[in-house]
Amino acid sequence: MGAHQTFPRGAVRIHGLSKSFTLNGAALPVLRDMNLYIRPGESLAVVGPSGCGKTTLLRVLAGLEAPDGGQVRIDGRPVQGVGTERAVIFQEPRLLPWLTVLGNVAFGFEVRGVPKAEAEAQARQNIRLVGLGEFEDAFPAQLSGGMAQRVGIARALAVQPEILLLDEPLGALDAMTRITMQDELARIWREQQVTMILVTHDLEEAIFLADRVLVMPREKGTPPRLIDIDLPRPRDRSEARFVAMRRRLMAEFGLH
Ligand SMILES: Nc1ncnc2c1ncn2[C@@H]1O[C@H](COP(=O)(O)OP(=O)(O)OP(=O)(O)O)[C@@H](O)[C@H]1O
Ligand SMILES: [Mg+2]
Repeated sequence: MGAHQTFPRGAVRIHGLSKSFTLNGAALPVLRDMNLYIRPGESLAVVGPSGCGKTTLLRVLAGLEAPDGGQVRIDGRPVQGVGTERAVIFQEPRLLPWLTVLGNVAFGFEVRGVPKAEAEAQARQNIRLVGLGEFEDAFPAQLSGGMAQRVGIARALAVQPEILLLDEPLGALDAMTRITMQDELARIWREQQVTMILVTHDLEEAIFLADRVLVMPREKGTPPRLIDIDLPRPRDRSEARFVAMRRRLMAEFGLH
């Protein structure tokens, strides 16, 4: 214990969080008195039926949406708007079409004030991290969906976030690319030691990537349930315990 002790970063505390929208003049409660602690470096998956509030929760965590009540704290500090300790990745990577892969990722550094040459050097590292070293000079229109999403991830990592917020990042990809990208996300999460909060409708993806799964119910206002995924890593999708966990998670939704 000394003056230079570093505390783990990326803790998220959700305290008494509530959020409603107005629909046809009536209040539509989406999140109601939600409480959750996500520890630094944890991987949390958020699953639940369409419309249950997953994106709303992620947008509140990102600071893109203000809660009606309660608070989110990151490492003890209340969230007020967006911040560079958090990076958000959406289903569509939203690349700038007139910039190359290198340009798009370097842009992520330049907005942080990193000078151009240095930004490009760091961008090259991130591009290698996501396995696109050969494609630095390609334009977004020349990339597959999975490659474009990798560029989005490389750009998001430019801010060196403590927390990665992902809203169905692999949702637009075909089944095979999705599995490859799940392996990539698992590796990036491990190497970067970030806290990861991943919204997905794919239960297998949740089990593959998460330490815990937050199951949001269809009934608004019913408290979400947390399920520990205590499987060793790297995980094997065909292993008996993995399959049993998938069955258990499906049963949460009345599926067989
Ligand atoms: N800006 C908004 N204005 C009004 N209602 C909204 C707004 N954003 C979300 N909602 C409502 O809040 C509820 C939750 O929406 P949200 O997008 O969080 O669901 P979701 O769980 O992400 O669904 P999906 O799986 O389809 O992406 C829905 O009933 C939706 O209609
Ligand atoms: Mg959504």
